[in-house]
Amino acid sequence: MAKIVMYPADNRKDTLDWKAVQGQHVTAVQRNILVLGSGGREHALAWKLAQSEGTHVFIAPGNAGTAQVGVNVDVKPSDFEAVKDFCLKQNINLVVVGPEQPLVDGIVDFFKNDEALKAVKIIGPDKRGAQLEGSKAFAKDFMEKYGVPTAKCFKVNKENLNEGYRFLESVKAPYVLKADGLAAGKGVLILNNLQEAKEELDKMLDGKFGAASATVVIEEFLKGIEVSVFVLTDGEHYVLLPEAKDYKRIGDGDTGLNTGGMGAVSPVPFCNSTFLERVEERIVKPTLKGLKTEGIDYKGFIFLGLMNDGGNPYVIEYNVRMGDPETEAVMTRIEGDFADLLFACADGRLDEVHYAKSDKTAVTVMMVSGGYPEAYKKGMKMNGLDNLKDVVAFHAGTAFNTDNEVVTSGGRVLAVTAHGNSIEEARGIAYREVEKIQFEGVNYRHDIGLDLMRMP
Ligand code: AMP
Ligand code: GLY
Repeated sequence: MAKIVMYPADNRKDTLDWKAVQGQHVTAVQRNILVLGSGGREHALAWKLAQSEGTHVFIAPGNAGTAQVGVNVDVKPSDFEAVKDFCLKQNINLVVVGPEQPLVDGIVDFFKNDEALKAVKIIGPDKRGAQLEGSKAFAKDFMEKYGVPTAKCFKVNKENLNEGYRFLESVKAPYVLKADGLAAGKGVLILNNLQEAKEELDKMLDGKFGAASATVVIEEFLKGIEVSVFVLTDGEHYVLLPEAKDYKRIGDGDTGLNTGGMGAVSPVPFCNSTFLERVEERIVKPTLKGLKTEGIDYKGFIFLGLMNDGGNPYVIEYNVRMGDPETEAVMTRIEGDFADLLFACADGRLDEVHYAKSDKTAVTVMMVSGGYPEAYKKGMKMNGLDNLKDVVAFHAGTAFNTDNEVVTSGGRVLAVTAHGNSIEEARGIAYREVEKIQFEGVNYRHDIGLDLMRMP
């Protein structure tokens, strides 16, 4: 069956007033999918879903890139009533939630409890399941209860502050302090000095991250190399999606401030079959068993932020969504019909679908605005996007200006992904193309994947 194109791929409209188009594009092929979010992750999800048989992909609110693979709709993911309205009027069959906030705020519960939305499937955990990411204290208790390997920790609030100090004194530097709640990716502090750690603990409890740090989890520091492993589960069955390595610091050689992610590589050479088997046996299976025992019906992604310490995996954190920029590498390595996989997930039939990973290596380089992750300018014109070869340029922070030109609209701007038979080859292609793209103040890391190439 031919793919149905709702709008020309080069449709350069930023955001459609969906009310003006509603109903026009509902066809017999009932695979209308709504992706919630506006970053590179959502562009990659929408890009992959648009390749599936007979899908119509909508993205709310999307960006200039998502407009090339689907229809952007002017609906905020946080406005559940507006999301509902759109789903019903546009006959949406499946909603894929990109970011964590709507999940933590209960969008899945909202869908499940609304009679009118009964027929609309949604990928993501309910509010209780989303606590795996929404509350670090909940996640740590859960791991402890179900025997999932993780760093030793102590949960502190204003009532037991002195015990918190004692715990800090009992562990070795560096000291890891984590705000319990969501803090826009900024709630983790790693400090080398005990006195400084105590002072920061005080500040966190005094509201450094607002209500999110009213409770702080102090953790033992884990040594090793990090990797992101992605699980898709229907609550009963699961598949391991391709894993990826994320590069979090702004500067080459892992220097400077932490960011939302400056690049990704998939697969990760040290994630061999022995390591992944350990991940499944020690982490994935106990996690799914724990969710079931707790009566949490989890249909969605579980992103395991892992530390590999000498071949043994430890959980640094759970996320209840896909990673960004990992998704921009991972989606390019999933073979076959991704929509089938997600529909099967929503229906509890993940054991029935065929799923394969490409054996190519994907390297993603994130191009960011000058100044990011601190203050940066927006609205910079972008050049070179039309001359790219052999890469997919996923848009992270872009928009159209009034002249319909693509301009920057965020700190992270473009995630450029290339494939190769090796990291070296994929890197070569990615950087060759990155150099063609220009905008004022452009910045990117030059060493994505280099550390992995040097590993035995
Ligand atoms: P998170 O926001 O939980 O992803 O933490 C941010 C980063 O802090 C992680 O990606 C790790 O690099 C680091 N980190 C968090 N917890 C630990 C830990 N217990 N030991 C070592 N590094 C950690
Ligand atoms: N790349 C890390 C994250 O998405 O949280």
